[in-house]
Amino acid sequence: MQTTKTKTEPNKVDQRIKLLDITMKRNHYRQDALIEILHKAQSAFGYLEPDILEYIARGLKLPLSRVYGVATFYHLFSLKPSGVHSCVVCMGTACYVKGSDRILTALEKELSIHVGETTSDNQISLMSARCLGACGIAPAIVFDGTVIGKQDPETAIEKVKAIEKSKVIRSKEWI
Ligand code: FES
Repeated sequence: MQTTKTKTEPNKVDQRIKLLDITMKRNHYRQDALIEILHKAQSAFGYLEPDILEYIARGLKLPLSRVYGVATFYHLFSLKPSGVHSCVVCMGTACYVKGSDRILTALEKELSIHVGETTSDNQISLMSARCLGACGIAPAIVFDGTVIGKQDPETAIEKVKAIEKSKVIRSKEWI
């Protein structure tokens, strides 16, 4: 009996990564092409997830904190899932040993969501990253594109409450 072969889709992720590689190569891995490359990544993936940001940071030899900063600063970019505000807790080794897991747990409890989710009012998305390239100020968090170091559960919750209250004014300050 002849078996019916289902046409398998090509591996879309690989194809998209390939597209990203081509875009970075075409831009000669220039760091000032970051926005254009993020655009391409977002149009290929639909959003900018942590792994993709890390991939771009490596490709352009940029600190991950810089790539996160740009990706979260501009409204045209969205990290999955996309609330009005973003809070990325670093779970890299340096931050983890200094208690970032407790920070993440406290934020999940405070916001009544799990990491990777957005609050029901669509205000805050909570995410995690492996290393923001800011280990010297561990544990680090990125609030709306601004890297803030030496956090603990209490200070992180204060920031979230401030976001909820005042809809936070973005700061362009870098670490
Ligand atoms: S491990 Fe958190 S910034 Fe490097």
